Amino acid sequence: MRERLARYLALLLVLCAVGLSWHFAWVHNRPAPAPTVREDRSEPTDPGVIPLAVQEQEPAGAGIFRDEGCMACHSVGGVGSPRYPLDGVGTRYDRQTLQEWIVGSERVAAELPDSAVRRKQSYRSLSEAELEALLDWLAGLRD
Ligand code: HEC
Repeated sequence: MRERLARYLALLLVLCAVGLSWHFAWVHNRPAPAPTVREDRSEPTDPGVIPLAVQEQEPAGAGIFRDEGCMACHSVGGVGSPRYPLDGVGTRYDRQTLQEWIVGSERVAAELPDSAVRRKQSYRSLSEAELEALLDWLAGLRD
């Protein structure tokens, strides 16, 4: 009787061991999830499938113009304050002059109301890269 019980228990143990090893083998060899990154980097040919991020890309300078509040006084293409439109400003001024208008240099300050001078001089804290991007964009505004 005891011998039968021992054998039965031994068999049970073996079955457990086999079962567990199958389980772990299955867990460790599960197929990897399908890759989610699009591998195809070829140019899209159908404009309908251009990714959204590309469609919505705006020039860096346009974003700075908006974020720095230039539109409180200026408009471009009818967007912003109609008081001082900047359409075509890239045709009227070279980069140096554009920069002077942005940061309210001594040369242009005389033509500006005091409040505008203060505001423009606060743009002297723009980083070199931000200023360059802003200038790139303004210089490209042509009639
Ligand atoms: C507080 C109002 C104000 C803000 C804000 C402001 N400006 Fe001006 N800006 C003026 C005024 C006023 C003039 C002079 C406009 C004129 O006499 O035609 C001017 C002139 C300019 C000019 C020359 C335009 C021309 O046709 O002679 C440029 C370029 C310009 N600003 C760029 C900017 C940019 C870029 C920003 C944001 C970084 C900015 N401004 C923010 C008030 C402002």
